[in-house]
Amino acid sequence: MKKELISIIKEAGKILKEGYFAQKEVTFKAKKDLVTTYDIAIENFLKEAFSKAFGDFNVIAEESDNSDLVFNNSIIIDPIDGTTNFVNQVPHTCISVGVYKNKKPYIGIVYNPILDELYSAEVSKGAFCNGNKISVSKDENLMTSLLSTGFPYTSATNEDDLNDVMKKMKNILPNCQDIRRLGSAALDLCYVARGTYEGYYEMNLKAWDVSAGMIVLSEAGGRFTNEKGEPYKLFRDKYIVATNGLIHDSLLNKL
Ligand code: IPD
Ligand code: CA
Ligand code: CA
Repeated sequence: MKKELISIIKEAGKILKEGYFAQKEVTFKAKKDLVTTYDIAIENFLKEAFSKAFGDFNVIAEESDNSDLVFNNSIIIDPIDGTTNFVNQVPHTCISVGVYKNKKPYIGIVYNPILDELYSAEVSKGAFCNGNKISVSKDENLMTSLLSTGFPYTSATNEDDLNDVMKKMKNILPNCQDIRRLGSAALDLCYVARGTYEGYYEMNLKAWDVSAGMIVLSEAGGRFTNEKGEPYKLFRDKYIVATNGLIHDSLLNKL
């Protein structure tokens, strides 16, 4: 299944790449939440190809009405993760596809066609970037750790969320090497997986933001939980905390 998934996602990557360099029509789903015709085009392309190739799975996708769908044997799609980057030509943008069997992680693919980086993982078979094995960093020290985070779209409308972002930043920034905000949750998880970042945390993510990156990260030896240190659960948890494992408890302590 992994090989076929990759070849379909690579085709969809051509649509993303074409759109990245084209004039785009942008509409707003919420005050800060963008969508373009390319998000829809990629999603439709993937949904059609996946339902033809993998009839045993339903497809849960960001821009679709998923209300009738039950999460079980499911392919969870974010057609463009990092849409704000996509619109503004910041090259951290990708297609994210996570496959679940009986609600359990199976295959994760994250493809950035602009930088030509394809992250892939199948449970128990390791994690790869462009076919080369990747693994998390060995840094045990929060003070020398490069971290990443993201800011929720709700920062424009929900003061509690905004205050929480600022509070956590104040606790963490003096106690780590630095913090990045690159604008794609799926890629952030892959950057922890490949050892670029030691850790990452963010609130208010949706299943399609993390469904694939989580699988890549755990196959690369990383750990992810909610902010209480409990196993992170798709569709439930407000916070994700993802690390190389070694700095996990120190990061949780500061959050
Ligand atoms: C967003 C990106 C971003 C994160 C947002 C997500 P989108 O996804 O992953 O990094 O901070 O919370 O919603 O809207 O570009 O698919
Ligand atoms: Ca997303
Ligand atoms: Ca998206």
